[in-house]
Amino acid sequence: MIVARTRAELDDATASLRSEGGTLALVPTMGALHVGHLSLVERAGEVADSVVLSVFVNPTQFGPGEDLDSYPRTLESDLEKAEERDVALVFAPESEAVVYPDGPPRVTVDPGEMGNRLCGRFRPGHFRGVLTVVTKLFGLVRPDVAVFGRKDFQQSVLIRRMVRDLELGVRIEVGGIVREDDGLALSSRNAYLSEEERAQAPAIHEGLRAARKLCRDGERGASALLSAARRAIASRPLLELQYAEVVDPETLDPVDPAPSGSVLAVAAFCGETRLIDNVAMP
Ligand code: PAJ
Repeated sequence: MIVARTRAELDDATASLRSEGGTLALVPTMGALHVGHLSLVERAGEVADSVVLSVFVNPTQFGPGEDLDSYPRTLESDLEKAEERDVALVFAPESEAVVYPDGPPRVTVDPGEMGNRLCGRFRPGHFRGVLTVVTKLFGLVRPDVAVFGRKDFQQSVLIRRMVRDLELGVRIEVGGIVREDDGLALSSRNAYLSEEERAQAPAIHEGLRAARKLCRDGERGASALLSAARRAIASRPLLELQYAEVVDPETLDPVDPAPSGSVLAVAAFCGETRLIDNVAMP
């Protein structure tokens, strides 16, 4: 496995992987790798000849007062996990300047109205930061395929839309949400949870499951489905819902009634930690 810490090292490594004639799949991450990330690595290995993993905590997608400084950075163990999974190349920039040599970019990717929906309403500028860094990673690595997780539902929708609207020529694959046994979606931020918070956090997924069951039993009204989700979350004192919405999976527009394939997405604080999750309606 090659570890590239600079642009020159990255260019050499991608050139040599490509000279073997194979295709490249990129899995962009911010590190603190867990089984959810690794499921994307596995998927990447199935759809291309070589897997490139990037590990970069991208400052431009964090807002003021968010957790940029405390975000877990565990490069050594990330590299061990990548090596075990047959990753060919890890791009782990040694500094922000490797990605942003001229400082924060003056030209950025505008997510449009879809960037103001759901999480974007509470994290202004977040999706501009995400789309801009993902575009840079595409330019730096030039992958044939890139793999993202459905856990970050709005992010995956926006990336698909960006690639389509801007003709970026990268195939996008989206992998399913990997969960703990009690339903909590794996997240690098779960490391912030106290024992008591960790015990209450699965109520987020319980709420989504309750809504899905109601839907399966014939209820299509968005407000009834959302009430079921809200009720489960409200039953735990350490959880505070930020939003719950049922949206169209392509446009992110709210839908009511909720057709099959529409997505119920939530964000909730568990103590100080912001958690997100989503589920498709049956
Ligand atoms: P990060 O939060 O590290 O997530 C990297 C990828 O892993 C994302 O595509 C995310 O959706 C996926 N992922 C996270 N938890 C998952 C889970 N439980 N199951 C399946 N997939 C999961 O998302 C980012 O980083 C950044 O915004 C990035 C795209 C790297 C741009 O900086």
